[in-house]
Amino acid sequence: MAEPNIEQVLLVDDDVGFRTITQQFLLRLGYASEIAANAPEALEILKKRHFDIVISDIRMKGKDGVQLMKEAKEVYPHLDFIMMTGFSSEYSYSDVIQAGAADYISKPFEMGELKAKLERIAREKNLLWEIQYINRQLTRSFKHLRKTMEGIITAMALALEMRDPYTAGHQRRVAGLACAIAKEIGLDGDMIEGIRMAGLIHDLGKIQIPAEILSKPSRLTDFEFGMIKFHP
Ligand SMILES: [Fe+2]
Repeated sequence: MAEPNIEQVLLVDDDVGFRTITQQFLLRLGYASEIAANAPEALEILKKRHFDIVISDIRMKGKDGVQLMKEAKEVYPHLDFIMMTGFSSEYSYSDVIQAGAADYISKPFEMGELKAKLERIAREKNLLWEIQYINRQLTRSFKHLRKTMEGIITAMALALEMRDPYTAGHQRRVAGLACAIAKEIGLDGDMIEGIRMAGLIHDLGKIQIPAEILSKPSRLTDFEFGMIKFHP
């Protein structure tokens, strides 16, 4: 997936003079822009092709800009909006941002101000994209690491059981029982997985004990039994 950028702009304003001037300015800045005279027209245009951002007047006849934004976001939740108004006292900054706008600009504004806002939103989109990308990479690395660790633990458990055939399968049975208990008492999946891995190598300490003592068919001497009891 490519990094997001702001290229396609839909400009919505019922003032024909204002939207013509603003569109020319956007085109000069290198944005591909299209215009709509009202909210229903904007919603129709949005159906036809992709846009990165909508710059919309708030106060329009019929549906206002906030209604347009709410309806559009139901279908395109990642579509950004900059709301414009010449009657800023009617809409507070926090109301507009809480309704889902990326930013808000009061008319009349300097074109440089709109440019700065578009660039800031593009930077934020990129940053968010990078964070999501890094998160996906971390999740992948974590899964890989976990698989490797499971492989190592299984190999250690097998090596231990090969030295001590008398208890072969014992660690697996303990791991199975411990997991069943953990499930019964309602521990979460990660915790149960940790218990399963610990169970599989819980007799790791036996590796210190000579194999002939572990598999001795006759009674152990006090010294040998002491060694067995000593293993961690
Ligand atoms: Fe054991």
